[in-house]
Amino acid sequence: MFAAARIPKRYEHCELSNYEFEGSQLHLAPARMAACRFVEEYPVDKTGLLLVGTIGTGKTHLAVGIAKSLIREKGIPCLFYDYRKLLKEIQNSYNSSVQTTELALLKPVFDAEVLVLDELGAVRPSEWVWDTVSLILNTRYNDNRVPHRPHGRRRLPAENQERELWVRSGQRSACRVKNTPEFSDAI
Ligand SMILES: Nc1ncnc2c1ncn2[C@@H]1O[C@H](COP(=O)(O)OP(=O)(O)O)[C@@H](O)[C@H]1O
Ligand SMILES: [Mg+2]
Repeated sequence: MFAAARIPKRYEHCELSNYEFEGSQLHLAPARMAACRFVEEYPVDKTGLLLVGTIGTGKTHLAVGIAKSLIREKGIPCLFYDYRKLLKEIQNSYNSSVQTTELALLKPVFDAEVLVLDELGAVRPSEWVWDTVSLILNTRYNDNRVPHRPHGRRRLPAENQERELWVRSGQRSACRVKNTPEFSDAI
């Protein structure tokens, strides 16, 4: 299950337990708390988690920590994907000399119970990019028939900020990505 999650080697050490949030890192405590709560409440809490902040503040660390905890403690299959890599692979699948189809490529992304989309904000949100993320998220939503729960909306910061989206099956839509219901702005 750990192998299937495809967590990159350089994040293998990341755990919720080794995420520092004391002393000078105290401002990271709410983000870490949100991550722990996500694991504890899963699958009761059917919302996703979006982590927003500058580079190096540990967003990927927390997201990987969540995935590893869910696998270890609850046996939940997770999948990690770098959003830039995913978009490149999708674009590449349009090339007729490439055997993989877009659908085959996206199947594991649609099917994963918990999907970590890393570096969501590193991609310029062209119309095609929004269409693609909306396809991914809405397909997950429709397939899982999870009730859509209303949330207050907050705007994401500037487009060029690094973002990460933590998506629980079917809990997001493109609109949710743009106007996220829940994210830690403390990180
Ligand atoms: N609060 C923290 N506690 C422990 N390690 C951290 C913390 N913040 C960042 N790191 C480590 O620093 C490196 C960069 O963090 P990363 O999660 O990639 O940041 P981001 O995704 O926000 O750019 C990683 O190796 C990560 O494990
Ligand atoms: Mg990161």
